[in-house]
Amino acid sequence: MTTTERLAGKIALVTAAGQGIGRAVAERLIAEGAQVHASDLNGALLDGLPAASVTALDATDEAAVNAWAGRFARVDALVHCVGYVHHGTIEECSPADWRRSMTITLDSAYTVIRAVVPKIRPQGGSVTTIASVASSTKGFPKRAAYGAAKAGVIGLTKACAADYLADKVRFNAVCPGTVDSPSLRGRIEELAKSLGSIEAARKMFIDRQPAGRLGTPEEIAGICAFLASDDAVFMTGQVVNVDGGITI
Ligand SMILES: NC(=O)c1ccc[n+]([C@@H]2O[C@H](COP(=O)([O-])OP(=O)(O)OC[C@H]3O[C@@H](n4cnc5c(N)ncnc54)[C@H](O)[C@@H]3O)[C@@H](O)[C@H]2O)c1
Repeated sequence: MTTTERLAGKIALVTAAGQGIGRAVAERLIAEGAQVHASDLNGALLDGLPAASVTALDATDEAAVNAWAGRFARVDALVHCVGYVHHGTIEECSPADWRRSMTITLDSAYTVIRAVVPKIRPQGGSVTTIASVASSTKGFPKRAAYGAAKAGVIGLTKACAADYLADKVRFNAVCPGTVDSPSLRGRIEELAKSLGSIEAARKMFIDRQPAGRLGTPEEIAGICAFLASDDAVFMTGQVVNVDGGITI
C-alpha cells in the first residue's frame, strides 16, 4: 500500500473502529499521519490499534458520546462507521427490529456528529459518514429497515453539508457495496442455514456485485482518507458510491 503523510497534523475521530471498515479506516488514517482517537462498542476489539487513544464507547449513548467528544480541544476529521443490518422485509421487521435499526444506524450518526461538530467548526474540517448503496441509492431485498436508516444517514449528511458550508466543515457520505467484514461473514453464516451451505450464501452476496467479488475494508478506507484530506477540500455534500459497479 502506498500512503502519503497528507493527514499529518490532523486530529481524527473514528467510531466502530474495532473491526471491518472502521478498523481499516483508523489504520489508514494513522498510516497517513493523522493522530487518531478510536472508539468501539467492544473496547477489546481496539487492542493493538496504534491510535493516540482507544475508548470503549456505545455511539448510541448520548452522555458517553458527549463525554468522549468533550475530551478533545480540536478535531479535524470525524469518520462515523457505526451501523447495524437487519435482514428482512417490512413484514419481517418487528417494531423492536425497526427501532434497533434506527437507534444504532441513524440516531448514532445524529448523536456523534452533534457532539463532535463544535470541535471541528472553529477551524474547519470534515465529517465522513459510512452509509451504504442499500439506502436512497438502491433498493435491495430484505433491507427495509437498513435501507431506510442509511437513507437517513445520507439525508443528515447532506443537510449538515449545507448548514456548515460557510464554516468550512465538509460532510460526505461513503456508500460501500458488499464488503468482506466480520459482520458480513456472520450474515453469510446466517443465510447458509436456509440456503444449505456457506458457499451458496457467499455466492448470493458475490452475485450482487457486478465486479464479481466482494470489496475489502481497505478499499473503503482509502476513500475515507481522501475525504478527510485537503485533497478533497472542494468536495462536500456528496454521496460517494464505492461499490464494485452496483450503481453503474
Ligand atoms: N460490510 C458491508 O458489506 C457494508 C456495506 C455497506 C455499508 N456498510 C457499513 O459499514 C459500517 C461498518 O460495517 P462493517 O461490516 O465493516 O463492520 P462490522 O459490522 O463487522 O463491525 C461493526 C463494528 O461496529 C461496532 N459497533 C456496533 N454497534 C456499535 C455502537 N452502538 N457503538 C459503537 N460501535 C458499535 C461493533 O462492535 C463492530 O466493531 C456499518 O455502518 C455498515 O452498515 C457495510
